[in-house]
Amino acid sequence: MSPDPSDTLLAAQRRSAELEARIAEDPARFRILTGDRPTGPLHLGHYFGTVAGRVRLQRLGVELFVLVADYQALTDRDVAENLPEHVDGLVADYLAVGIDPGKATIFTHSAVPALNQLLLPFLSLVSVAELARNPTVKEEIEASRRAVSGLMFTYPVHQAADILFCKANLVPVGKDQLPHLELTRTVSRRFNDRYGPVFPVPDALLSPVPHLLGLDGQKMSKSRGNAIPLSLPSDEVARRIRGARTDAQRRITYEPDTRPEVANLVRLVALCQDRDPVEVADEVGDAGAAALKRLAIDAVEGFLAPIRAARAAYLDDRAQLRRILRAGNERACAIAEDTLREVRAAMATDY
Ligand code: TRP
Repeated sequence: MSPDPSDTLLAAQRRSAELEARIAEDPARFRILTGDRPTGPLHLGHYFGTVAGRVRLQRLGVELFVLVADYQALTDRDVAENLPEHVDGLVADYLAVGIDPGKATIFTHSAVPALNQLLLPFLSLVSVAELARNPTVKEEIEASRRAVSGLMFTYPVHQAADILFCKANLVPVGKDQLPHLELTRTVSRRFNDRYGPVFPVPDALLSPVPHLLGLDGQKMSKSRGNAIPLSLPSDEVARRIRGARTDAQRRITYEPDTRPEVANLVRLVALCQDRDPVEVADEVGDAGAAALKRLAIDAVEGFLAPIRAARAAYLDDRAQLRRILRAGNERACAIAEDTLREVRAAMATDY
């Protein structure tokens, strides 16, 4: 029987708190791998959900690998449109928010053949039934309403290769990614059992920040048009926030369970200004939703203006951007080749 998902979540939260303490003690013991699909620009949900955490951990001294998961962009579409544009945009997003290419390795799937080769032995370690059970993949298959590609079905195994090629031991994730990390742990253990110890069994690090919702109160997502991308021009920021859903009560309070849309706007202000949400709600009080929205527009604008400018500057110098990506790819290739060499030796396929 598979474990109750809420138990798994609780266990992951408890473990994450322990890990935070160990990271603070000795950041050099950890290597993080994380990444995003290049299907559009990062938005504030990504930023506060995971990307800000990466920057924080980098500043603490943890080594960071950031993957632009270009092959994974093909899971639910035949052709990834505007892929180079999205890849450059994502790299510019990373740099603009403070991921430091002097310390972090930013790279793409397609440029690291030895990483991709790990997929083959890893596929042999999992059953079709295990893949079919993955709740995140099931949801994505339902949402895509098209024939399921082999890549869609197996991408969590590819993700194990993403994590294990550089022997990352820490993966910052949202809860939708927990099943994938569980699979990575399974792949790692099975490989080590069968062929000898090569891989770490990485831990999930759950973000302590609650999820920011979209402006319609649903999950913030690129495809739903309810997001605030980091690159959004300031007039669009104002327009989208003015159109955000609120409720009929005049007085602004912070009650996430009963007033999710209002609470989400309050939380947006709190996150952008690094303040306490209850204090933000009290400040607006009887001035109502229009005042809350004005405050949110100012807060988001104040937060995004420097990021937007930095992002635009990076995109203005594509040659430099590509140099940064190429350097990351080279470093990832060197590490992946070392790991593949170890894998070949362990499997006795080093002829
Ligand atoms: N699946 C992740 C997403 O959809 C992206 C990703 C690819 C990833 N490989 C990864 C995340 C490895 C963490 C670790 O956003």
